[in-house]
Amino acid sequence: MARVIDVRSDTVTQPTDVMRSAMAAAVVGDDGYGEDPTIRELEGEFAALVGKEAAIFVPSGVMANQMALRVLTSPGDLVVTGRHHHVVSFEMGASARNASIQFAPIEDSSGFLDAEEVAEVVSAEFDHQPHIAALCLENTHMYAGGVPWGAREIASIVAAADGRPTHLDGARLFNASVATGEDPAALAAPATTVMTCLSKGLCAPVGSLLAGPADLMDRARVERKRLGGTMRQGGILAAAGLVALRTMRDRLGDDHRRARALADAFSTRFPESAYEPESCATNIVAFDHQRARELVARLDDRGLRGGTLSPRRARFVTHAGITDDDVDAAIDIITSFTWA
Ligand SMILES: Cc1ncc(COP(=O)(O)O)c(C=O)c1O
Repeated sequence: MARVIDVRSDTVTQPTDVMRSAMAAAVVGDDGYGEDPTIRELEGEFAALVGKEAAIFVPSGVMANQMALRVLTSPGDLVVTGRHHHVVSFEMGASARNASIQFAPIEDSSGFLDAEEVAEVVSAEFDHQPHIAALCLENTHMYAGGVPWGAREIASIVAAADGRPTHLDGARLFNASVATGEDPAALAAPATTVMTCLSKGLCAPVGSLLAGPADLMDRARVERKRLGGTMRQGGILAAAGLVALRTMRDRLGDDHRRARALADAFSTRFPESAYEPESCATNIVAFDHQRARELVARLDDRGLRGGTLSPRRARFVTHAGITDDDVDAAIDIITSFTWA
C-alpha cells in the first residue's frame, strides 16, 4: 500500500537517532528531590533561552498551561483570552476543573486579539463584573493556522491588560521565532510565564517546559505535584529535550516552506474556501470549508491524512517526518481531487 502522508499534527514526529542515544546515556536522579541533573540542565537552558529566572519540565503542554493558570489566578477569577485559544477550546474544560476559573473569550479568528477589546473587557471589572486575574495569549496561534506574533504585537495586548500578568502558550514559540526572526526571549519578554512544547516540531518524544519568575515557578512546582506530574528519573526524557532545544529549532523553517506549498495547492483547488495562502506563515494550514469533514475523509482515502478543528475547519500540519517528495505527492493528491 502507498505510504500515508500524515499531516494530522506535528505531534506525530518521532525522536531522532541522536535523541535516542542521548536518552540511553542520560544521567538521572529523582526529580521529586530535585536530583535529576539532566532535567536541571534542560530547565536551566530553557529559562535562559526565554529570558526567565526559572523553568520546570512537565509531561505536557496542557499541564504547563494549567499550572500557569493555577499560580496566576484564584478560583472564580476571569482570564481574558482568544475564543479559539487552546486553553479555551482544546483542553477539555481543564481550566474550569483544574484552575476553577472562567474565561472572558474574545474574537481571534484572524489569529490576533484586538487591544481595545481586551482593554474594554478588563475595565468591566469596574461595572461589578468578575475579577480579571490574567491574560492568556498563544504564539503561534494554532486555530488560525499557526499565525506568529511579533514581540511588539504581544506587548501591545499585554499593555491593554492594565498590569495583569500574562501567560503565553508558546507550544510553537520556536516556530514563531523562526517566522518572525525574533529571539525567543524577546517574544517571551512581555509575558509573565511562558510554556513551550518539545514534543511537536522539535521531535522530542515527551515533554513541555514552563518558565517564569523563580517564586512563581516554586509555586508551579507544587501545582505540578498536585496534578501528578513529577516524573522522577525523567532525565531520560529531558535528554531528548536537550537535543530538541539545541539542534531542532533551525530546521522549523523547512516545515514552514512546505506548509506554504500545501497552502497554495489547497487555495487553488478549493477557491470556495476563500483561504488566503499568504496567511500560512509557519507549519499549519487551516481553512474553513463547508464540507471539511468529508474533504478530510476523502483526502485520507487518497493517502493524505489531515484533521478537522471544528465541523467546518480543516487542518494540515507539516513536520520533520514530511519531506519535499511528500509535499509533491500531497500536492498531486490535492490538485487531482474530485468529490466523486
Ligand atoms: C497551542 C497549543 N497549546 C497547548 C497544547 C498542548 O500540548 P500537549 O499536547 O503537549 O498537552 C497544544 C497541543 O496540541 C497546542 O497546539
